[in-house]
Amino acid sequence: MEYISKSYEETQKIASDFAKTLKSGDVVCMYGDLGAGKTAFVQGLAKGFNIFEPITSPTFTIVNEYDGDMPLYHFDVYRIADSDEMYEIGYEEYVDGNGVSVIEWAELIEDVLPPCRYEVVVSKDYAEDENYRKIEIRKITK
Ligand SMILES: Nc1ncnc2c1ncn2[C@@H]1O[C@H](COP(=O)(O)OP(=O)(O)OP(=O)(O)O)[C@@H](O)[C@H]1O
Ligand SMILES: [Mg+2]
Repeated sequence: MEYISKSYEETQKIASDFAKTLKSGDVVCMYGDLGAGKTAFVQGLAKGFNIFEPITSPTFTIVNEYDGDMPLYHFDVYRIADSDEMYEIGYEEYVDGNGVSVIEWAELIEDVLPPCRYEVVVSKDYAEDENYRKIEIRKITK
């Protein structure tokens, strides 16, 4: 699916609608440049799960956990040295756990991503205005 968002709020709405299609154990990989809107999308996912805590990027802790209708495990692996660090923080338990895992900068840990996952790509278009984003959501199955 491909969506066009023209505001932060629209991105959240797209994400919260998508959240309703997710089930426990799903992994959502987020791709996009710095400031594209990955965390904005995760905030929308959280809303979709009725999580009302503010979602901030877990840049230094790698993962933050939130409890709602569905537990949400929010990873940001931007500062990870290598994928082994994922195992050290208990990545497998999260992915096999009872919630949805969402990973910002998933390309940095490509070798440990599960074969079945969602990819969400958020991109700007400099020919459009500064709030314009294209959001592509696809399901990968192997
Ligand atoms: N249509 C839009 N959708 C999402 N965010 C938007 C949109 N238009 C403007 N913005 C702004 O873009 C910024 C997106 O920031 P966000 O932290 O979500 O990016 P990010 O991809 O997570 O970056 P990082 O790689 O640093 O984690 C916010 O300041 C937000 O207000
Ligand atoms: Mg972010």
